[in-house]
Amino acid sequence: MKKGSLSIIDYYSLESPFATEFRRLLQRLKRHDAGHELKVVMITSANLSEGKSTICALMSITAAKKGIKTLLVDTDLRRPTVHKLFNVDREPGLTGVLENGLIGKNVVRKSPLEHLDLITAGRPTAEAAEVFDAPAIGRLLTEMKFYYDLIIVDCAPIIPVSDPMLLAPEVDGVLMVVRAGQTSRDVATRAVDIMRSNKTEILGVVLNNANNTLPYYYDYKYYGYNYAPSRAEQRANKHAEKKRANKNESPQSSGSGSSAKKSSEGPKLKGNSISN
Ligand SMILES: Nc1ncnc2c1ncn2[C@@H]1O[C@H](COP(=O)(O)OP(=O)(O)OP(=O)(O)O)[C@@H](O)[C@H]1O
Ligand SMILES: [Mg+2]
Repeated sequence: MKKGSLSIIDYYSLESPFATEFRRLLQRLKRHDAGHELKVVMITSANLSEGKSTICALMSITAAKKGIKTLLVDTDLRRPTVHKLFNVDREPGLTGVLENGLIGKNVVRKSPLEHLDLITAGRPTAEAAEVFDAPAIGRLLTEMKFYYDLIIVDCAPIIPVSDPMLLAPEVDGVLMVVRAGQTSRDVATRAVDIMRSNKTEILGVVLNNANNTLPYYYDYKYYGYNYAPSRAEQRANKHAEKKRANKNESPQSSGSGSSAKKSSEGPKLKGNSISN
């Protein structure tokens, strides 16, 4: 890890609402009957910036903290992010294996977290789709299955590029991220159609409530369980309550926008709802 700056691990708290959601997601995956081994899980979305990499990272950390031997692989060679989130070098990485014949184990990077290893994207390549249209990626994942209980594959979005569907036959199942308030129904449906026509095993959908667009009952603050708000949030809540009292509003009618948006402290992560 590079010295000085923080990584996503530093922002992760076991008590946070998103950690709870990711533990739930892992439980669901464990129970999911795919009729075959479920070790390699690809996380994708219809379009750009829906939260794939963030969700990959948080899910990997959650799994590692549960003692599951986890590997996170950055296969998004167009907009690689894992090295940034974990504050490590990008090279050597995946392209070293796929293009330059490096041995898989030699590009695995230890994270500061026990049970979590990373394969970053590696050197930029102009052949992002072609590298997945070759047996090397399948061989790498098969080799890694010997060493890890869970392999999470961060990848490019489905609609703009073909990479995820080239990769899909090499994974045991796919989780699709949908960013609430951003991904339109048509776009999400198109992505599902592409996956179905590719005979991809769709494990479920992770609803990323990054913009606080879901109704209030998706908001962890509504439940007020096991959650200690930051000082800034307490101030914001008090302020909101006062405002509500003045307006004589009910707390529920204020919807989901009443909470985390106001916090200026801590990570900017909000709850991710998982459904399948
Ligand atoms: N739940 C969340 N709360 C707040 N911010 C979020 C959340 N999820 C994602 N973001 C932010 O949205 C941006 C895009 O997220 P991320 O990089 O994870 O998406 P992506 O789907 O991997 O994007 P790309 O298509 O570029 O690979 C980032 O700045 C990230 O911090
Ligand atoms: Mg990404």
